[in-house]
Amino acid sequence: MSDHGTQPSDTGPTTPDQQVSQGEARSGQAPQGHSASPVYSLDAHTQRYAQRTAGMTASEIRALFSVASRPEVVSLAGGMPNLAALPLDSLSEEVARLVSVDGQSALQYGSAQGVPQLREQICEIMALEGISAHPDDVMVTVGSQMAMDMVTRIFCDPGDVVLAEGPSFVGALGSFAAYQTDIVHVAMDDDGLRPDALRETIDNVTRQGKRIKFLYTIPNFHNPAGVTLAVERRAEVLDICAQHGILVLEDNPYGLLGFDGQTYPALRSQDPDNVVYLGSFSKIFASGLRVGWVLAPHAVREKLVLAAESATLCPPTLNQMIVSRYLSTHDWQGQVKVFQEQYRERRDAMLSALEQHMPAGCDWTHPDGGFYVWFTAPEGVDAKEMLPRAVTQRVAYASGTGFYSGEFGHRQMRLSFCYPTPERIHEGVRRLANTITDELDLVRTFGSAGRRPASGPQAPSPDTA
Ligand SMILES: Cc1ncc(COP(=O)(O)O)c(C=O)c1O
Repeated sequence: MSDHGTQPSDTGPTTPDQQVSQGEARSGQAPQGHSASPVYSLDAHTQRYAQRTAGMTASEIRALFSVASRPEVVSLAGGMPNLAALPLDSLSEEVARLVSVDGQSALQYGSAQGVPQLREQICEIMALEGISAHPDDVMVTVGSQMAMDMVTRIFCDPGDVVLAEGPSFVGALGSFAAYQTDIVHVAMDDDGLRPDALRETIDNVTRQGKRIKFLYTIPNFHNPAGVTLAVERRAEVLDICAQHGILVLEDNPYGLLGFDGQTYPALRSQDPDNVVYLGSFSKIFASGLRVGWVLAPHAVREKLVLAAESATLCPPTLNQMIVSRYLSTHDWQGQVKVFQEQYRERRDAMLSALEQHMPAGCDWTHPDGGFYVWFTAPEGVDAKEMLPRAVTQRVAYASGTGFYSGEFGHRQMRLSFCYPTPERIHEGVRRLANTITDELDLVRTFGSAGRRPASGPQAPSPDTA
């Protein structure tokens, strides 16, 4: 049994730092400048971490964030929504009214499952993508990130396999790793997840005697790949998973952000019993409110509520009521159209700058919604190694390696067009093209661009990744 901190000598080998601290503690002498209570070095605590913390590492995007957010750097790295078009004045009036009229309930604890009226409104939103659901089967979460954590918590034991597209969303990979799952990637192409690759991966994993718990998929306007699962592939993906008893975890924060207002039938609408669906207000309203949701088959929803209760008691009542009021008092669908137009303009700026400036041998996806272009540099370029040089040229991106579990994605990068203005996007892509051209010159001359210490950006950011 582990000890809980009163007897440091019981916890195994000690470091020199610990020995000093423990000696001081035993002799009862406080080190100078400290109180008389026992002093333990940081190591004494870090050595007691649970094994699962080994999978908790800073995302590359997080480390980059501080550098990329300098004003002189054009950041194509983060995934922050552009909130400039929100009707802040009328929103603040609504929030003030909410607190003065309904403050007693808005500032109180609420149900673990979420505010009932908001759950009804969430069902109306999901209907736009073909989902028919009952508010009882919806649980409101602190962003869909929390839902991902909860789903993994209730389904996965250490060593269980989670299938995820390669590349995949950093935040999801972080949750899966934190529960010590084995993440196995499934290949995509321009039409999203490849059913043939899914079959093959399932066969390989099963042959190794491993247990697959679920397939995590982002069917629409993928982060980071920028592609959408073809409609004609959807039934096939669902059939394959159903045949093998694999649950589908459908993550759909960008589904309403098609640049032509187009939507696609949610996987959940086609197989309600085998799909857990995640939605979010982060991209269609305000990411800082941290309101998302999970829709799950009834029994699963019950277990999710228990898991959520133990984590947060309940999602923030005020934030849920703000979202609910916004939906009922504002033309939120009109606002989504404004977002679609803004992001389309920025996507266009990025694609035309890429066409204009990139050297031969580069390749990239052409998203018709969402926030991201997935870019592949020519042979010889290592996007992660190149990042410090790019930042010196005042442009930042998220290197592809961060979007995989394992050593993949070295030539890839994610370029976000959601936040910078079209002019800044153009300038950022021009700088990036220069950086890549310089890198290719080095590769041609010396055979490689040289491994320099990764000074500066070690990793990044909030998507915020
Ligand atoms: C695919 C995907 N899922 C989930 C999230 C997290 O969303 P939320 O803000 O609701 O936690 C993001 C955020 O970037 C995302 O891109």
